[in-house]
Amino acid sequence: MAGCGNALMSEDMVKDGYIDIMNIDISSVVIKIMRKRCAHIQQLKYIQMDIREMSFFEDQTIDSVIDKGTLDSLMCGGDASLSVSLMLEEVNRLLKPGGIYMLITYGDPSLRISHLNQPGCCWHIKLYIIRMLRHCPKPPCLYTPYQFLFPFLLNS
Ligand SMILES: C[S@@+](CC[C@H](N)C(=O)[O-])C[C@H]1O[C@@H](n2cnc3c(N)ncnc32)[C@H](O)[C@@H]1O
Repeated sequence: MAGCGNALMSEDMVKDGYIDIMNIDISSVVIKIMRKRCAHIQQLKYIQMDIREMSFFEDQTIDSVIDKGTLDSLMCGGDASLSVSLMLEEVNRLLKPGGIYMLITYGDPSLRISHLNQPGCCWHIKLYIIRMLRHCPKPPCLYTPYQFLFPFLLNS
């Protein structure tokens, strides 16, 4: 979990059966809090680390990287393009062949794709748009909640 913050997502993933989740965040405060909160959950590990420099991990050793709001937060900081480029380079380096980088972002796809397509990163990108339920036409609502997730293949 890249930039885990104090989100419940990793704990929820353990409930769903995931057995080895490495959570990193640049904030020592949040890592301390999360280590205490999740001390009883052996599937979760917490390390303070800058996602732009993860030499702690060997190349091609991670199955999947989940980023919920972390690239977004780098985009809001100084030297945004450089930070995002370093982050994606590191994520690309760590992933095993066939590994998945799941980017959950508020950003418009057009503002994210150019970063993802940086030299050296050859992602096969699928875009899923999660529509807000309040956009459901009513009455009656024509969609089940699952139909709000549409995949768009952006490249092959
Ligand atoms: C918008 S919060 C999202 C937190 C969590 N993923 C969630 O869904 O609630 C962004 C997180 O990224 C962390 N972060 C920001 N820059 C980082 C960096 N360079 N390396 C690691 N974590 C970073 C922040 O400390 C913060 O916890």
